[in-house]
Amino acid sequence: MSKENKSKKLSRRDFIGRASTGAVGSIVLFPAISSGNDKREEKISKTNFKMLGTNSLTLKVNGKKISAKVNANTTLVELLRDHLNLTGTKVACNSGECGSCSVLLDGEVVYSCHMLALDAQGKSVTTVEGLMDGEKFHPVQEAFVEEDGLQCGFCTPGQVMAAVSLLNNNPTPTKGEVMNGMAGNICRCAAYPKIIDSVLSASKKMKV
Ligand code: FES
Ligand code: FES
Repeated sequence: MSKENKSKKLSRRDFIGRASTGAVGSIVLFPAISSGNDKREEKISKTNFKMLGTNSLTLKVNGKKISAKVNANTTLVELLRDHLNLTGTKVACNSGECGSCSVLLDGEVVYSCHMLALDAQGKSVTTVEGLMDGEKFHPVQEAFVEEDGLQCGFCTPGQVMAAVSLLNNNPTPTKGEVMNGMAGNICRCAAYPKIIDSVLSASKKMKV
């Protein structure tokens, strides 16, 4: 099947099928595809979110206003994963070195393990769950699937977020600019050639 046709036939159901046949990466690339997603969205939509901690925090996450009480040492990724149940963002090194936890903060990519939740006060956070437009995948997500830009998939949400930020800042990067722009994201499977192809392909899709 041509890439074009493959892309057109992409659906949530296809990805569930792929995941069940071993394409584990699909699960982390498209974490919203799960039977528990409606509950997650319901949970995050509550505007007066309560959790342990004494410091008030208000921010937007994937377009929704969140009010929370956090500890001074709660990191942004802990807020996202442990309290908002947005587990698409992954933690690997937990020390600001690998990029697995990358999210967008006011449109710029940041390591969410290396940032306090309180520092996101008043800002807008986008996680991999927030990239989809309803049932439609973001062009970067589509490109990663079409170009097989993943192996185990663990680093993929972070790679996707870094690619989105890169393409927002530079819609038509050269291969060298993609390599530089993605340098903050480590892939332990060394899927780098395909990751670069994915970003270049996404660039073409986003131009159309
Ligand atoms: S988990 Fe945050 S940079 Fe590695
Ligand atoms: S695809 Fe396995 S770590 Fe990147």
